[in-house]
Amino acid sequence: MHTKALGTSSLQVPRISFGAWAIGGWYWGGADDATSIEALTAGLDEGLSAIDTAPVYGFGHSEKIIGQALRGRRDEALVMTKAGLRWDDEEGEFFFKTADVDGKVRSIYRNLRPASLRHEVEASLRRLNIEHIDLLQIHWPDPSTPIAESIGALFDMRSQGLLREIGVSNFSTEQMDAAREALGGVPLASCQPKYNLLQRESETEILAYGIEHEIGTLVYSPLEQGLLSGKVTGARKLPADDQRNKHPNFQSARRSRINQVLSQEVQPIAEAHGASVAQTVLAWTALQAGVTSVLSGIRSKEQARENAAAARVELKQAELISIDQAFRALLAEFAAKGGKQRGLGGLLRRMLKR
Ligand SMILES: NC(=O)c1ccc[n+]([C@@H]2O[C@H](COP(=O)([O-])OP(=O)(O)OC[C@H]3O[C@@H](n4cnc5c(N)ncnc54)[C@H](OP(=O)(O)O)[C@@H]3O)[C@@H](O)[C@H]2O)c1
Repeated sequence: MHTKALGTSSLQVPRISFGAWAIGGWYWGGADDATSIEALTAGLDEGLSAIDTAPVYGFGHSEKIIGQALRGRRDEALVMTKAGLRWDDEEGEFFFKTADVDGKVRSIYRNLRPASLRHEVEASLRRLNIEHIDLLQIHWPDPSTPIAESIGALFDMRSQGLLREIGVSNFSTEQMDAAREALGGVPLASCQPKYNLLQRESETEILAYGIEHEIGTLVYSPLEQGLLSGKVTGARKLPADDQRNKHPNFQSARRSRINQVLSQEVQPIAEAHGASVAQTVLAWTALQAGVTSVLSGIRSKEQARENAAAARVELKQAELISIDQAFRALLAEFAAKGGKQRGLGGLLRRMLKR
């Protein structure tokens, strides 16, 4: 797969990267490990050569599974993990409560203190069973720790060879200014915003900032957690512990309107390219200004093959515009009905205002 430089860092990332949240199981109604390893293996075979994960994804489980899948294939993959969300310690700022796949309640704390970051990086290296992390991203800002202190700790670990490059996720432009200043001559490799046809806020701020300052952007939830594949029909029931059940866009009225727009506006374009709706939406996202790589969440080898092939779908300008306009109209319709965007997107906006 064609690769691009991640900002001005030493890393080259594919147009589509493997998103490994769901294979951790938590939030997504569980995951089957053998299926997850097949998915990662198929992804590597098809050029999904960058894998995005985090310690909190399944409370270490996603990283462990990646470690298993990479046995004998470490050189083929960039491992991009994160730090800053602790479930095993109560230091830092309380973030949210959740239940793991066994129903056990977990309290998540934001903690970017230097000692905690080192503890996390060392634990990630053990779980992933690798010598260094290619990209270490701060998962979420922690207002209780000065950004310069956290960046200083990552800088030291970079000098010691534990990680190659440093990135951030869910940061505002002001927080990225502070991170860049603390890094001095070392580039801030990347930022990681949520971005898809239904979540456009990052276009004017984060993606524009990435272009201006040559910072790579790894955009997440491109299929709005699967909804923009067109396969989450009204008839599809998610398992009771799949937390997408609480997502506002998964509620039946919105789900049905989103699927109508996909079938009326995206399906004909997909057919013209011999592609699926999911591939067309992923291709649209990858082709937007300022997007370096699309983090595509994948649970099976079939999804790995399908989503990797989206990198070869070259949409024409008129097609990009018509998809854009259809979804802008849908968002205006949702806004007119007064529905506030909630869930993690709303949470993110509230946090960034702090
Ligand atoms: N930095 C952050 O705070 C943050 C937050 C969220 C995500 N991320 C990263 O971004 C990645 C992607 O985001 P995401 O996982 O939230 O959402 P996503 O990529 O929009 O959706 C992933 C889900 O869509 C479904 N899917 C994938 N391919 C499909 C296909 N071809 N056809 C039909 N359904 C398909 C799968 O679920 P089903 O098969 O169960 O429907 C899959 O788990 C994550 O894995 C993670 O690495 C980062």
